[in-house]
Amino acid sequence: MGDKNEEFVVTPWEVRGIVDYDRLVKEFGTQFIDDRLLDRVKRIIGEIHPLLKRRIFFSHRDFDWILDKFEQGENFALYTGRGPSGPVHLGHMVPWIFTKYLQDKFDAELYFQVTDDEKFLHDPHVSLEITKNYAMENIIDLLALGFKEGKTFIFIDTDYAKTLYNIAIKVAKHITFSTVKAVFGFDSSINVGMSFFPTIQAVPCFLPSVLKGKNTPVLIPAAIDQDPYWRGIARFVAPKLGFYKPAQIHSKFFPGLGKGGKMSASEPNTAIFTTDDEELVDKKIMNAFTGGRATVEEHRKLGGQPDICPVYHYYEYLFEEDDKKLKEIYNSCKLGTLICGDCKAILANKVKKFMKEHQRKREKAKDIVNEFILKD
Ligand code: TYM
Repeated sequence: MGDKNEEFVVTPWEVRGIVDYDRLVKEFGTQFIDDRLLDRVKRIIGEIHPLLKRRIFFSHRDFDWILDKFEQGENFALYTGRGPSGPVHLGHMVPWIFTKYLQDKFDAELYFQVTDDEKFLHDPHVSLEITKNYAMENIIDLLALGFKEGKTFIFIDTDYAKTLYNIAIKVAKHITFSTVKAVFGFDSSINVGMSFFPTIQAVPCFLPSVLKGKNTPVLIPAAIDQDPYWRGIARFVAPKLGFYKPAQIHSKFFPGLGKGGKMSASEPNTAIFTTDDEELVDKKIMNAFTGGRATVEEHRKLGGQPDICPVYHYYEYLFEEDDKKLKEIYNSCKLGTLICGDCKAILANKVKKFMKEHQRKREKAKDIVNEFILKD
C-alpha cells in the first residue's frame, strides 16, 4: 500500500511507514513463497489456505525443509506467541488463524509462548500484574480459535521460568551484548532484562526437542516483525547446541483502519479488538480511511483505489474466502460501481458476525483454559 520509497521501520516493537516487503526479503535473507512451494503444499495436504494462496504469508526460511521432514515421517512442531500488553486485535489473529490451519492439516503440536516478562521489561509504564492479567485474557482469544487439546501447549514465561531459564542460559552463553545490539538495534541504555530477553524468546524453538528428548523440527508462523529473534539468535545458536535450526513462515501486516500502517494496539481508533462491541465495530469501520474518491460522483467517474484501501484488504486477509467474490469487489471498486459506504457496511456486517461467534467461543474457552497451560 502506498509509496514504496518512503523510509520504513520493522522491529519486534515498532512497525512504522509503508513496508516494502520485497526489500525485507532481501535484507532479512528470507525467500519468497513461490508457485512451486504452493503446488507442493497442495500435493501434500490437498488444500491451500487463502492466507497462503494470496501471499499474505509471503516469505519463509526452510519451509521446504519442514515439508521434506514431514514427507520423511518426521513430525514437526509449531511455535508462535503473544506479548500480552493489551487486548488482542484482528491483526494478531492473522498468524493464529494460519497456525490453526497448519495444526489441523499437519496434525502438529503447537507451543505457544506468552511473554509477560517482555512486555513488562519493554514498557516503563506497564506492571507485571497488568501483563499477567492480559496473558490469561489473550490465551482465551487463542483458544477460541479451536486449537486441539493435548496437542497445544501454552506457557506464560514467568509461570514456566524454571524450564525456560535452564535452556535460556545455554542460549545466552553464545550471545554477546554486541550481537543483541546489532540484531535488535539496542543501545547501551537498554535495561539488562531486555538485553537478556531475546534468549527467552529463542527457547521454545528448542523446547519440543528438550521435552521429547529427541531433535524435533520447529516451524514458526508469525508476522515478519518477529524475524530478528530467529535470524539473529535462534538460528545462530541452534547448531552450537545440537538442535535443528527453526524454520519460519512470515506474514505481512494486517492494516489498521487509518491511512497506511499496520493494525496496532497503540492506535485504538483504527484497530478492532476482539472485545469490541457491535456499535464500536460499526463506528470504527464506517470511519475508516478508504481508497475512494472525495465525492460519490467522482468515485463513479474515476473509480476507487483498492490497493491502498484497508477496507479492501480486510476482505482480502480475513473476510472474503471466495477468490471470485474478492475479484468482483476489486473490479467493481476500480470501476467505481461499488461505493465506499456500501463496501464498508458489508464489511462491518461480516466483521460483526465473526466477532459475535468469536466472543461466544471465547466464553466457552474460559472453562477449558487450564487444560492447555504448562507450568513448572
Ligand atoms: P505480539 O504480541 O506483538 O504479536 C503477536 C503476533 O501477532 C503478529 N502481529 C501481526 N500480524 C499481522 N498483522 C498485524 N497488524 C500484527 N501485529 C502483530 C506478530 O508478528 C506476532 O506473531 N514477542 C512476541 C511474542 C512471541 C512470539 C513468539 C510471536 C513470543 N514468541 C513466537 C511469534 C512467534 C510479541 O510481542 O508478539
